[in-house]
Amino acid sequence: MSRIIDGKAIAAAIKVEIAAEVAAMIDADLDPPHLAAVIVGEDAASMTYVASKEKACHESGITSTVYRLPESTTENELLRIVEFLNSDPEIDGFIIQLPLPAHINADKIIEAIDPRKDVDGFHPRNVGRMTLGLPAYLPATPFGIVELLKRSNISVEGKHVVVLGRSNIVGTPVSILLSRKSANANATVTLCHSKTENLADITRQADVLIAAIGIPGFVTADMVRQGAVVVDVGIHRITDLSQAKGYRITGDVDYPAVSAIASAITPVPGGVGPMTIVSLLHNTLLARRKEIYT
Ligand code: GUN
Repeated sequence: MSRIIDGKAIAAAIKVEIAAEVAAMIDADLDPPHLAAVIVGEDAASMTYVASKEKACHESGITSTVYRLPESTTENELLRIVEFLNSDPEIDGFIIQLPLPAHINADKIIEAIDPRKDVDGFHPRNVGRMTLGLPAYLPATPFGIVELLKRSNISVEGKHVVVLGRSNIVGTPVSILLSRKSANANATVTLCHSKTENLADITRQADVLIAAIGIPGFVTADMVRQGAVVVDVGIHRITDLSQAKGYRITGDVDYPAVSAIASAITPVPGGVGPMTIVSLLHNTLLARRKEIYT
């Protein structure tokens, strides 16, 4: 049976650290950090994520403002809101919750964000700086995974990390971060995706397997080497009438089978998800202190 990596507890400890730093700012008569989030439309998962971010801000003393816009918002209207947030001195950092409705070009919106306020780390300037190992806002989920491994005393140095999924939000940046020449990195990384051949042969070579493929239960026991560390980034709501809520939350990993052979594994919920949220709070604190772009 594997060790369960308790992301919820680790994130709670980080939140206490952030709250202490915010409290010290307030004691020094400084304004607390201020995060804004913009959500367009009513995607159920996005609404849940934004509500969790708002709650986490509240718990750590960070001011938060949420802009809830209708699905019918045009690209130009959203661009104007981005410009407004870019120039509002009250806002330290902001995020545009993804996905955006199909009629809005997300790349164009992300490029319009002032990189100094891009606490999601999605702007090409932050992605470029991260890739070059320069100070940058690191995207929340990849940064959360690095911190989760670090605080669980799991070193990836010299190890083979296999990442499943090459999204801009998780797979690609986490593979860059873990292969960098820096602390809590120095891994040998293989990035697998939908066109990868002989996938299970590759995943079975992983010392650390990171599943960010977006398919419930995709990683089965035959894809995992005995004793590997498994990080599950997926969050899926599956209809389950045996549950009081009528659904259960599951990840990209077949947890019951894989947890029997992994040495350590992140649960869903309570693994990577809470780390993503505290990483965003961390970036907001950096934005308030203007630590990345000095
Ligand atoms: N959608 C899924 N994950 C994220 C995230 O980390 N940030 C934003 N803005 N949207 C998301």
